[in-house]
Amino acid sequence: TETIVAVDGPAAAGKTTTSRVLMAIFGLRYLESGRIYRIIAAEALRRNLPPDDIAAIEALCEELLSETGPNTALASPRHTPDSLRSPAVTGLVPGVARIPGVRTHATALIRQWAADQAAPCIIEGRDIGTAVFPAAPVKFYLNATPEVRAERRVGQESGLSYPAVLQDILRRDYQDTTRASAPLIPARDAIEIDTTDLTIQQVIHRMATAYRA
Ligand code: CDP
Repeated sequence: TETIVAVDGPAAAGKTTTSRVLMAIFGLRYLESGRIYRIIAAEALRRNLPPDDIAAIEALCEELLSETGPNTALASPRHTPDSLRSPAVTGLVPGVARIPGVRTHATALIRQWAADQAAPCIIEGRDIGTAVFPAAPVKFYLNATPEVRAERRVGQESGLSYPAVLQDILRRDYQDTTRASAPLIPARDAIEIDTTDLTIQQVIHRMATAYRA
């Protein structure tokens, strides 16, 4: 198996920013696994599937996979990065991500993607180091206080209000950490970095040093 760098943690802890820099420094293939869960949620919305209709959403996952194959499902042009980050999708995605059948499909897709790369990969998500690649040789778990994470997200994306973003982050933390299947939790062998009082450069420095070692 190829070298996998797992980057897990809650929303707006700095996973995407740091993963992209490590990708560039070390020439890694990069996957934002949340995109898969967001595509499933966006399709469920588009088709008006009720979020509690587990059988329908599991059937949707099967269809998305068999219809398009692993790589094109990820590259689906219908869902732009902006549309996948709409409040409606963001609100629905943690509920969808609680469904065990959804996680099984997404996990298979992520593993297939990594195998197809035939190169070292950096993959960010919630369960990469615990469930998707428990044997990954390098694992990071980034965290920060909910307040700092909300401030960062408000600074990143225009038109968001701090109280609404903080509320969304707290709700998603709760949903992601309490689900029965692959909850958000640091892997035992993850390098945990509390980024609350660190600059992005400091976080990248720690991660790059650990990767080289
Ligand atoms: O960028 P942000 O952290 O806000 O969200 P994301 O990484 O796109 O993930 C959105 C949601 O997808 C999370 O809140 C989780 O509910 C779910 N997710 C997951 O369950 N497992 C993953 N490996 C990635 C995302």
